[in-house]
Formats: sequence, C-alpha cells, structure tokens
Amino acid sequence: QKTIGILTSGGDAPGMNAAVRSVVRTALYKGMRVIGIRRGYSGLLARDMVEMNLRSVCDTLHRGGTVLYSARCPEFRDDAGVERGKEVCVEIGIDGLVVIGGDGSFRGARDLSIKGIPCIGIPGTIDNDIACSDYTIGFDTAVNTVMDMVDKLRDTSQSHDRCTIVEVMGRRCGDIALHSGIACGAVAILVPEVPFSIDAIVEKMQRTLSTGKKHFIIIVAEGVVNVNGIGSVQDIANEIQARTGVEARSTILGHVQRGGAPTARERVLASEMGHYAVELLEQGIGNRVIASKDNKIVDYDILEALNMKREFNKRLYQIADEISI
Ligand code: F6P
Repeated sequence: QKTIGILTSGGDAPGMNAAVRSVVRTALYKGMRVIGIRRGYSGLLARDMVEMNLRSVCDTLHRGGTVLYSARCPEFRDDAGVERGKEVCVEIGIDGLVVIGGDGSFRGARDLSIKGIPCIGIPGTIDNDIACSDYTIGFDTAVNTVMDMVDKLRDTSQSHDRCTIVEVMGRRCGDIALHSGIACGAVAILVPEVPFSIDAIVEKMQRTLSTGKKHFIIIVAEGVVNVNGIGSVQDIANEIQARTGVEARSTILGHVQRGGAPTARERVLASEMGHYAVELLEQGIGNRVIASKDNKIVDYDILEALNMKREFNKRLYQIADEISI
C-alpha cells in the first residue's frame, strides 16, 4: 500500500483546503494511505503529522486558510535540512509528497525529489506568480476580495470627490493589481513589471477632470512602493492631491487579501489539480509541478518550471489604460 504525504507551505491562499481535500479523497479512493503534515517543511522536520481519513477534510472545502497550517522553513533551503526531510519520509514510510505552495516551496520539492522522494507541486499563492501556470490557487479569491473592498472605497470616494489610492499585495507580480484594477475601473494601475510616472498619472487625471469626472481609484501593487523613491501610498496620495487639487486618501488592504471563502473557480481548479497530483504519484512520477495552461491541467519538470519566465499581460494592461479615461 502506497503512503503519500501532503503539506501546505509559504503564504496561505484561499482554495488550499480544496486542494488538500482533493488529494486526500483521491488517494483514499485509490487505496493509498495519506499523512497530513502540519506547518509545511517545518512540520516534516518536526514529525508534526497526522494520518488522514475520509472525514478529516469534511467541512473544509469552503474555508479560507489551510487546515494543515503553513510556514516558511529556512532550514529546508540547505542540503542538510532536505536530507533530514528525506530521512523522516523514509522513517515514516512516505513514498511520495504533495506540496501546495509557491516557487520557494517547489524548490524544496525538487530537492527532495532528487533525494528519492517523489514530490508533486501544486501552485497555491494569491500572487499568481508561478510562471508555468496561467492561474494559481488563491488568485481569483484575492482579486474578488480586492474588488469588494475597492467597491466600498469607491462609494465614499465618490461622495467626497476624492482620489483613493489602494495598495494591494504582490511584491514582484502585478497581477492582483492589474485584474482588480480593471474590475474596479481604476484610472491608473501601478505594477512592478511596467515603469510608470506620476507626471503621466497627473496628466491623465487632469484630462479626465476636464470631461467631468470627479473621483478616482488608483491601484498600486506593494512591489512598487518603497522603491525608486516612490515612498508609501500615502506619499503618492499627497503628491496627487498637491498636483491635481483632488483630495486624496490612501488605504493598504494587507492580509485581508489572503483570507475568505475560496471562489467556485478556485475550488474547481484546486480539486482538479489535487486529483492530477495523486495520479502522478500513483504512477511513481515525481519532480513535477501541476499547472493550468490554456484551460487544461498539465505538468512540468520542477526545474524547468522554476526557470520559466513569467509573461506580464501587457495587452490587458494597455486595455485598462485605454478604457479608464
Ligand atoms: O506570497 C503571498 C504574499 O501574500 C505576498 O503577496 C506578500 O508580499 C507576502 O505574501 C506577505 O507575506 P507575510 O504573510 O509573510 O507578511
């Protein structure tokens, strides 16, 4: 009888539970044993784990966060840590491991695969920054959360003829900003992938003011603040107010973006990916990342996936700019 382990690692994301549930149920359906490992690779090293049964994942599909808890594990970046991880797997009898997380988590999965424990990565992060996959688990929910929040901010922004500057998550990836910016009709979207100038934003606002618009939303990815002298979103607000005469306020949405019930789309994607991961492990295949490509679930070699370059959707960015005038 095959035994597989499952863990969630790195920043949590809505839909991780749906993926865990799918892995557990698929594996049990196929007659495998499943060990749930708590707090990512740290829990593996600490042997913090529990055997899962059919009912272990009841009432989790609709819940945000991860019932397995998550952690970032610096020890697993070193060979000694990975070696210990492998020893624990051998000792417990874990024949394969599913790792739900982002790039950092996949590096650990690759290292463990090289040492003989087949691992499968499932992209789970709100950032949508896994190059091989069009979508990551958590992104759709995060964008919808931002949209709900910004819709509320828009109400008060409109009442007071203000400009509202909203900072969203994404240190290296502007996808949350881009998608929520379009969904909320932002006049400007600032992302790490595209250079921007405050002059151009001021000029665009002035043009729009002259057509009768009086309130504005600007979405800023966290990766563009505190770099290149941009300062904080409040600094941007101050500058916009000083130069356009439109009163400006800033809001940092923060970790609210990481919580909440996963959207239907997320639950379906996570369920499909979890199922696919177990199918690979069943065949003894490891060192793969599951991805969603052109609406199909596929898999890639982990190293190949880690070396892929992410394409920022410049066309969508251009559309956002053209229709927010
Ligand atoms: O990777 C997900 C993410 O939410 C990023 O968007 C953000 O920069 C980071 O994690 C925040 O990390 P922490 O939860 O450690 O503050």
